Amino acid sequence: MKFQPVKGTRDFYPEQMAVRNYIVNGWKAASVRSGFVEYDGPIFEYLAMYQAKSGQEIAQQLFSLTDRGGRELAIRPEITPTLARMVNEKINSLPRPIKWFSVPRLCRAENTQKGRLREFFQWNIDVIGVDDVIADADVIFTSIDYLRSTGLTAGDIQAKISSRKLLAAVLVELGISGESLDAIYVLLDKKTKLPAETFDAMLLEKIGDGGVVEKIKKLMEITAVEQIADIVRPGPAVQQGLDEVSRLFVILSNMGIDNYCRFDMSIVRGLAYYTGVVFEVHDVTGRLRAICGGGRYDNLLKDFGGPAISATGMGMGDCVLEILLEEKGLLKERIAANKIDYFVACADERLFGRAVETACKLRTLGRIAEFAYKPGNLAKQLKQADSMKCRFCVIIGRELEECGKLIVKNMADGSQSQISMEEFFRGND
Ligand code: HAM
Repeated sequence: MKFQPVKGTRDFYPEQMAVRNYIVNGWKAASVRSGFVEYDGPIFEYLAMYQAKSGQEIAQQLFSLTDRGGRELAIRPEITPTLARMVNEKINSLPRPIKWFSVPRLCRAENTQKGRLREFFQWNIDVIGVDDVIADADVIFTSIDYLRSTGLTAGDIQAKISSRKLLAAVLVELGISGESLDAIYVLLDKKTKLPAETFDAMLLEKIGDGGVVEKIKKLMEITAVEQIADIVRPGPAVQQGLDEVSRLFVILSNMGIDNYCRFDMSIVRGLAYYTGVVFEVHDVTGRLRAICGGGRYDNLLKDFGGPAISATGMGMGDCVLEILLEEKGLLKERIAANKIDYFVACADERLFGRAVETACKLRTLGRIAEFAYKPGNLAKQLKQADSMKCRFCVIIGRELEECGKLIVKNMADGSQSQISMEEFFRGND
């Protein structure tokens, strides 16, 4: 019998693993730079947890199972509900603000496509306990700070930022009832993924008034906060939303990332729990799906049985990011292969014990050292050292017996020198 990897999953051979590690290490370093601390949770949770709050789309993509005790479970499609559950459990003992990050492996039974798989890694950063756009700005900064560190410029990527609070206020001013907002968000989030006529027809079916539909479509094209006044006369709720967004942009400018950020009313986000600032980072050509997305979710902790505490955060997958870094030529030279410092070759079988001893002593001293399992054929061993891209090859042979010396060959330029065992180890101590 022969098996293939399951659709939407990946095998990580060492070469792919190096890419994954490069990405994950960068995520972790950026989190730490911004003061986030790491957490993790279980890989499966109760199914109901995701059905309750993640929203329609994710609920339809769950990998669910019934365990032997009859419990309905699901593999995590996101970690935000777990985070809310964990924070609620210890809410009184956690110092605030809570700034946590995680890099979970997630599963979603999606229709696989470029940048969308069924199993992926997702960097999450979240700030809990801060009811102010300063926390949203900190999350956006940390996301951009990471992306900038990979070599992506403001000419490659842009954070598109909006606010569900502002959108809700405008929609209510346009006569839409508060109860139908959630369903409209889901539809607006799909705008770019649906053919224009289908989107128009669905929106008309939901709203029922062609004039309002036209205004909403105009609203979705707004890229400067001032343009909102062309659509509705700002009442107090709209004005509050506008003030908040304006203040956010002032902070983003203080943070030095305003060139990476722009206002874009078409960003709504698919998940049900967002309540305030929402954002997504996209490649500027718009060919790829979002690199990351997030926003404020002020009701989730309360909805999960905890106190009313505000929260904001974002998730960034590894798939679109890897495609973009590859396309921009930003992966190859940045992935430092674990270069071996020393390859210990043994030209004489009788000295094999000394070769093993030398290699292992180098390892104890913190050097990356490898040795040939089969001594004797020096040419073969030098070839192995070369293919492993070792920096130096240490040759144990006749010289060791005759005068206690090793040969050290520089693999880059081919030069070689003799050195006593003691001196060699002193140099590596
Ligand atoms: P999300 O928009 O569902 O948000 O996912 C965020 C990011 O995860 C996407 O922009 C994409 O990079 C990646 N992603 C999602 N699904 C897939 C997939 N099937 N294959 C590859 N990558 C994918 C959330 O998950 C929120 N929980 C993020 C968040 C954290 N909001 C607040 N805190």
